[in-house]
Amino acid sequence: MKISVIGCGYLGAVHAACMAELGHNVVGVDIDAEKIARLAAGNPPFFEPGLPELLTSAMSTGRLAFSSDIAAVSGSRVHFLAVGTPQQRGSNAADLTYVDAAVAALLPHLAPGDLVVGKSTVPVGTATRLAVSIAATGARLAWNPEFLREGFAVKDTVSPDRLVYGVETGDAASVALLDEVYAAALAAGTPKVVTDFATAELVKVAANAFLATKISFINAMAEVAEVTGADVTQLADAIGYDTRIGRRFLNAGLGFGGGCLPKDIRAFMARAEELGAGDALNFLVEVDAINQRRRERMVDLTLEVCNGDVRGKRIAVLGLAFKPDSDDVRDSPALDVAARLAELGANVVATDPEAIETSRRIRPQLDYVATAEEAANGAGAVLVLTEWAQFRALDPEAFGLLVAERTILDGRNCLDPAQWRSAGWTYRALGRP
Ligand code: UDX
Repeated sequence: MKISVIGCGYLGAVHAACMAELGHNVVGVDIDAEKIARLAAGNPPFFEPGLPELLTSAMSTGRLAFSSDIAAVSGSRVHFLAVGTPQQRGSNAADLTYVDAAVAALLPHLAPGDLVVGKSTVPVGTATRLAVSIAATGARLAWNPEFLREGFAVKDTVSPDRLVYGVETGDAASVALLDEVYAAALAAGTPKVVTDFATAELVKVAANAFLATKISFINAMAEVAEVTGADVTQLADAIGYDTRIGRRFLNAGLGFGGGCLPKDIRAFMARAEELGAGDALNFLVEVDAINQRRRERMVDLTLEVCNGDVRGKRIAVLGLAFKPDSDDVRDSPALDVAARLAELGANVVATDPEAIETSRRIRPQLDYVATAEEAANGAGAVLVLTEWAQFRALDPEAFGLLVAERTILDGRNCLDPAQWRSAGWTYRALGRP
């Protein structure tokens, strides 16, 4: 099938490449010509494992092309909208500028019978509004939220947990077209939910709200553990054995960040408020607050091990990305903590396997080095703020030879305390004695 993907960020670029790999003819369109040039060269402007290889292999089949001209979508039957919906400045609400601009640019190129498929995370009610102008061209709209995780984007796109189609009542033609697009996943038994626009839009934000709540729940338990001497990691293991609870997304630590969870829960609250259902989501205010408090706690813990004063103290920060296997530092707890310590006068020396360039763009004042070893050289304290495999695998003995003081703060509960303590380190963590 001929498919266009409008918006080639983390979501759109991966979607375009995966659809081409599945046998469709795909054109990815973005207003950012530099991004398009890099994608066309198989060199994406962001880090996503497996994506460069996938781009190269899909382009070699001739089924994948990129363009910065929206006219390139002409002739496609299905047009995916994959543009960003960031948080508005000065408000919790989502900024729909890019969605509205993409639809306006697309309208003149739509042909009767085309299907526009919204993938972006939008406030409930957006699809109903957009469907009016799309219907005037003879095309139709469906909402098909995307649940991919950064770092696993290729796998999540090719083998999703579920497919959700939001369509207008009785729109069997759109369902049939989407079934054709996703034939491979459906044949592999992927569950499919066909529903209305509002439910499809809500599924996405409800899922992210649930995940954020699960993380903040365990981080709230970490706060209680900290004042009782309990160990939140053992607590998580123990409650996680209950299959109704489950162990996944119960890792206590610095909390959630990234381009999705934080802004999605805030936009969800803002939208519910507009709809008169704000009370229903009041708990998300707490979820957000618990999440922010973890960063403060990490700064306090650092001050504590530095006898209340970090001024002029060399502090090694290992990890800047919001999670491992990503170069994304949007709302990253790690980068936030590093910046706060620098503001307190610490000599922060930070490293990350992939996120130094992205960090430098928004926090140019920090000192960045290429490796954990360089960061640790002469450090008075080491902070592990993103649980990259290479940091988890550090040898406490060898690493201890580099630092001025053997003090390590594990912001992600990703190290073995016994191993570090037996090598003479003072080991401190969030939610653990
Ligand atoms: C998330 C959703 O998982 C995905 O389904 C949606 O499509 C987009 O938002 P992503 O932002 O890629 O995906 O990251 P995710 O793996 O969900 O992690 C989010 C944040 O939560 C990270 O900062 C991570 O470190 C943190 N986290 C995750 C925890 O603090 N504890 C956990 O147990 C799990």
